Amino acid sequence: MPAIPSLKERYRDYFDIGAAITPQLLQTKGDLIKTQFSSLTAENQMKPGPIHPAPDTWAFEDADAIAAFAREHNLHLRGHTLVWHNQTPEWFYEGGDKDTLLSRVKAHMQVMFDRYAKDIIAWDVVNEAVADQGDEIFRDSRYHQILGDNLVVRSFELARELLPGGYFVYNDYNEIMPAKRTKILALLDMLKSAGNLVDAFGFQCHWNIHDLDLDELRRSIELYAAKGVHLQMTELDLSLYASSDKEIYDAATPENLALQADLYGKIFAIFREYKDVIDSVTFWGATDADSWLQGFPVRNRPYNQPLLFDGECQPKECFRRVVEF
Ligand code: XIL
Repeated sequence: MPAIPSLKERYRDYFDIGAAITPQLLQTKGDLIKTQFSSLTAENQMKPGPIHPAPDTWAFEDADAIAAFAREHNLHLRGHTLVWHNQTPEWFYEGGDKDTLLSRVKAHMQVMFDRYAKDIIAWDVVNEAVADQGDEIFRDSRYHQILGDNLVVRSFELARELLPGGYFVYNDYNEIMPAKRTKILALLDMLKSAGNLVDAFGFQCHWNIHDLDLDELRRSIELYAAKGVHLQMTELDLSLYASSDKEIYDAATPENLALQADLYGKIFAIFREYKDVIDSVTFWGATDADSWLQGFPVRNRPYNQPLLFDGECQPKECFRRVVEF
């Protein structure tokens, strides 16, 4: 069998190609991961909940294993994530006053930076703070209830203070939808005018084959880049199912896999055009079998196939469309 081309080799002159991984996956699919990808993101292991479950309890083991793998194989590592309304333990918010919460965030960041900054190329300082609907810029979260509209700026200020040379990202989804994009752009302005606090905007890129609008993707790249920030594609996957579908669907058809391959080819053609502003393109998972979309938004949907490799680590048609140009 001819050797599978390597994504990271193919894209060496363009941008990093990353995958979200777990320590288990590094053991079972380590060969695929180290040959295909130049960057890793811990799928869950560096989030506040898993790594810092109680004020004086840290669970570094999984994150350490990921950092060690990245060092051993010369891979970049992204830090995901410091301030997020999900997967953050209740104790962070206990007491409910601003200063207490900020001092906890600061102490959390300090430990994360002390331990991992030498391995990490970019930090998702704040994840998903912008509201999907309505006129409010910010999502109604515990963080926002306590810190108010300052929450993102204050978080980035703390990160800058603790790690002055850090590379700091604001990361969000529904990033190419015009209404939410307008709000994210306003947030980037806030971060800029508060003292150039943000280095890059992270497009999560959780898309699907039914309603991805490539013109909006291109427009979004231009609009975000016009703010003077770099772009990172942080969690790319292309679901076979629409986000509004919450029931059981039909199994994958040859037609929707062909559409997926076509779209993956077009998405990467656009990314390549903007290689000067795009640092990295990370898939949210390495193979279909380990994609979070097997369980989100519902379990027991037909097997979703959102990534470039099947569960046997074999490249799909969409892989071919991404490497052949
Ligand atoms: C997801 C993980 O993939 C799941 O394993 C976990 O149960 C929930 O979080 N946006 C993000 C990621 O920023 O951290 C999320 O990851 C997917 C959506």
